[in-house]
Amino acid sequence: MRKTIIAGNWKMYKNIAEAIELANGIKRELFNLGDERIDTVLCPPFTALRDVSEVISESNILLGAQDVYWEEEGAFTGEVSPGMLKDTGCSFIIIGHSERRQHFSETNTTVNKKLKAVLRNGLTPIVCIGETLSQREEDKTFQVLEDHVLNGLDGILEEEASKIIIAYEPVWAIGTGKTATPQEAQSAHAYIRGLLKKMFNTDISESIRIQYGGSVKPDNIVELMKQRDIDGALVGGASLKIESFSQIVKKACEVSK
Ligand code: PGA
Repeated sequence: MRKTIIAGNWKMYKNIAEAIELANGIKRELFNLGDERIDTVLCPPFTALRDVSEVISESNILLGAQDVYWEEEGAFTGEVSPGMLKDTGCSFIIIGHSERRQHFSETNTTVNKKLKAVLRNGLTPIVCIGETLSQREEDKTFQVLEDHVLNGLDGILEEEASKIIIAYEPVWAIGTGKTATPQEAQSAHAYIRGLLKKMFNTDISESIRIQYGGSVKPDNIVELMKQRDIDGALVGGASLKIESFSQIVKKACEVSK
């Protein structure tokens, strides 16, 4: 059984006061939601990590960061190490989000280095993969997924693999209001699980959680979550409002497997 995981990726939104308000509101809405069936994760910008960490300290809500650098420390101006993120209270790190691949030259090679550094530090990576619209139109979706999974996870040991979370995010569905249909998403998720099975084994592939991301909202979460291989969601836009994010978490919890 795979525990449902809903993560809110706040991207470059919310100053400290706004972040505290949002985290407080979500905490209030979800106060009686146990953590047996669902992991709820908030991923604010770096500047708000510490404050959000304090807000959620006595709740079941967990903290995540949106990116990381792979070295432990050193002369790397502007970068943040896994240890530094752990120090703020983070237990999850998003790696290889399509916006980082698109705007900040992130590649499978850098994703792989970050993944290994995150695992080395005992943190949980959320590795984002997914095809662009043109790749889908050229019928290259599975090829792209294979490239992202095989190269992004290259050299990962069996014992580390089940700690990884994959987020399948078709780039054409991110921030566009266009969601993949539950069937389209399920077919990509099943393909990804098949790749993981080939890389590792059945037990490991069945234990790895695969989130869907791309215009997830309160009104589409249930159908997505009903799919066999969808284990949660990585939510962007709808995670910026107390009401929509809390609704998504509550609904996902109701249909959790
Ligand atoms: P969205 O973003 O929910 O706004 O489409 C998802 C993401 O980028 O993780």
